[in-house]
Amino acid sequence: MAFFKLSSTSIFLLIHIALFSSFSLAADPTVSYDFKLSYITVSPLGVPQKVIAINGQFPGPLVNATTNNNVVIKVYNDLDEDLLMTWPGIQMRRNSWQDGVLGTNCPIPPTWDFNYTFQVKDQIGSFFYFPSLNLQRASGGFGPFVINNRPVIQIPFAQPDGDFTLLIGDWYTRNHTALRADLDSGKDLGMPDGVLINGKGPYRYNTTLVPDGLPYETIKVDPGKTYRFRVHNVGTSTSLNFRIQGHNLLLVETEGYYTVQQNYTSFDIHVGQSSSFLVTMDQNATSDYYIVASARFVNESIWRKVSGVGILHYSNSKGPATGPLPEAPSDIYNQWSAMNQPKAIRQNTSASGARPNPQGSYHYGSINVTDTYILRSLPPTTIDGKLRATLNGISFVNPGTPIRLADLNKVKGSYKLDFPSAPLNRTFHRDTSVINATYKGFIEIILQNNDTRMQSFHMNGYSFFCCWDGLGYLVREQQRFIQ
Ligand SMILES: *[C@@H]1O[C@H](CO)[C@@H](O)[C@H](O)[C@H]1NC(C)=O
Ligand SMILES: *[C@@H]1O[C@H](CO)[C@@H](O)[C@H](O)[C@H]1NC(C)=O
Ligand SMILES: *[C@@H]1O[C@H](CO)[C@@H](O)[C@H](O)[C@H]1NC(C)=O
Ligand SMILES: *[C@@H]1O[C@H](CO)[C@@H](O)[C@H](O)[C@H]1NC(C)=O
Ligand SMILES: *[C@@H]1O[C@H](CO)[C@@H](O)[C@H](O)[C@H]1NC(C)=O
Ligand SMILES: *[C@@H]1O[C@H](CO)[C@@H](O)[C@H](O)[C@H]1NC(C)=O
Ligand SMILES: *[C@@H]1O[C@H](CO)[C@@H](O)[C@H](O)[C@H]1NC(C)=O
Ligand SMILES: *[C@@H]1O[C@H](CO)[C@@H](O)[C@H](O)[C@H]1NC(C)=O
Ligand SMILES: *[C@@H]1O[C@H](CO)[C@@H](O)[C@H](O)[C@H]1NC(C)=O
Ligand SMILES: *[C@@H]1O[C@H](CO)[C@@H](O)[C@H](O)[C@H]1NC(C)=O
Ligand SMILES: *[C@@H]1O[C@H](CO)[C@@H](O)[C@H](O)[C@H]1NC(C)=O
Ligand SMILES: *[C@@H]1O[C@H](CO)[C@@H](O)[C@H](O)[C@H]1NC(C)=O
Repeated sequence: MAFFKLSSTSIFLLIHIALFSSFSLAADPTVSYDFKLSYITVSPLGVPQKVIAINGQFPGPLVNATTNNNVVIKVYNDLDEDLLMTWPGIQMRRNSWQDGVLGTNCPIPPTWDFNYTFQVKDQIGSFFYFPSLNLQRASGGFGPFVINNRPVIQIPFAQPDGDFTLLIGDWYTRNHTALRADLDSGKDLGMPDGVLINGKGPYRYNTTLVPDGLPYETIKVDPGKTYRFRVHNVGTSTSLNFRIQGHNLLLVETEGYYTVQQNYTSFDIHVGQSSSFLVTMDQNATSDYYIVASARFVNESIWRKVSGVGILHYSNSKGPATGPLPEAPSDIYNQWSAMNQPKAIRQNTSASGARPNPQGSYHYGSINVTDTYILRSLPPTTIDGKLRATLNGISFVNPGTPIRLADLNKVKGSYKLDFPSAPLNRTFHRDTSVINATYKGFIEIILQNNDTRMQSFHMNGYSFFCCWDGLGYLVREQQRFIQ
């Protein structure tokens, strides 16, 4: 079972594959976590607001696993509404019960708990988890999820001197229920109120633009050392450009794959995406340096407040960071030229990372494609008075009985296996319409973004291999296979 999510408004598409298999824990080590989700009050942008914390922490704690570990996360819901936690990028093939998305799983009601149990089989990389329902992610509940190499497996670079996680994302001072109410009354969410870095507001780089007294993130480093930065866009809808003043970002991993290593002065990270960089502290520490995550493809003079600013502090720093932020890319209105960056990312196929596709060398050109789907997104539209995103004209409605439970208990009519293989010329509507895929087949998916803004498509639970992209198609997915 796989899931598609579009970033800005909640829409889902399910692929259904008739398959039941039991899940058994192999004799691999287990890492266990207890997560209690509750509200705490913080003021990242100077306005007190209730955010979703895990064990009192915002953002949530690190889940630190190693390839093939079994992971048990006991989630206790101390919120006032239903909850599901999802672990995107973790391959849930054969185990969609732990996926944590509505439609597959029943939500966890308030005061209930649920134990998520899964194996991070044949995987490495930097991911993040978050609550999947009802725009809750816009209020927090997210945190980093790292899968380390097994000790016998070399990483394709020298062991870094330290490891930092930066969760960057747009942020509203309205909470998720208020944002939801806006969408449900047909309104757009509008411009975010800022960008947070690890749950903190911007450093006061400009006394006019940033109020006094905001907490900000400081990363402390030693000169000459090289650190790994794992950067994730945990936001709701804003593409971000990430950069560290005066420093190169050496891209080494993206979405759980080692890449061919390449330096960037700034790097675009769209909603839901994750990348790791090695950064060498090779500057003279005349001052601290800015760490910036600013809104991309927007008019900067209007969106200036939507910038996250943290501080890189050398232990021998001679003073605070001053002056303007390092410049953002100038191709704001040229999204096609901006495509050159993701297109240049190549998997390092000789790196000894985990291989989700151990068979390896499929002859891609000779695969017999079983099904082809063209999935087209259009700008959000008003359906029954509510603002909804659509794929092929359909806005997904969660079924009363989650799909896998309906299958298990032979509940008829919970969903329809009639998702159209191409956009149809018909009016928008809401439906529990699911793709009927073929077990062990190969599905070709063409993502056609006919929205007026950038979309990132996330395909949950499966491995995909990005075959090609061309004009009119925005394809920026993990280089993996669907099985
Ligand atoms: C969210 O905001 C709404 C409207 O401002 C408010 O009524 C509600 O109590 C808030 N919920 C939480 C959990 O803070
Ligand atoms: C994560 O786990 C690895 C392997 O057990 C360990 O070496 C590392 O120190 C851990 N990292 C953190 C931040 O706990
Ligand atoms: C989750 O696991 C804990 C300890 O392993 C156990 O006490 C608890 O009953 C489990 N909860 C559920 C809902 O299975
Ligand atoms: C790819 O990984 C291999 C094996 O670790 C490493 O030796 C090589 O430098 C990497 N290549 C690039 C271009 O990053
Ligand atoms: C701060 O931002 C304001 C508004 O954009 C701008 O006019 C001013 O020049 C900036 N100040 C500094 C010191 O950069
Ligand atoms: C990346 O930049 C660093 C300096 O910041 C340099 O030492 C390194 O050789 C560069 N690596 C590549 C692959 O260009
Ligand atoms: C430190 O580096 C900055 C930026 O490259 C440069 O302007 C400055 O002159 C350097 N200072 C010293 C003391 O080398
Ligand atoms: C950005 O917005 C400002 C203020 O509305 C406007 O004056 C300016 O022309 C816009 N810039 C571009 C490049 O569209
Ligand atoms: C595709 O189908 C053809 C004809 O049935 C067969 O010869 C070929 O081996 C198949 N290719 C793959 C990769 O399975
Ligand atoms: C779509 O349907 C409308 C009315 O149902 C019709 O007027 C229009 O020609 C159709 N467009 C296409 C491309 O078939
Ligand atoms: C789904 O596809 C299978 C063949 O792959 C077919 O047998 C079945 O009838 C289809 N189900 C529906 C509801 O179309
Ligand atoms: C999709 O976008 C293309 C190119 O901008 C446009 O010609 C076409 O009319 C759009 N289709 C729909 C259904 O909006």
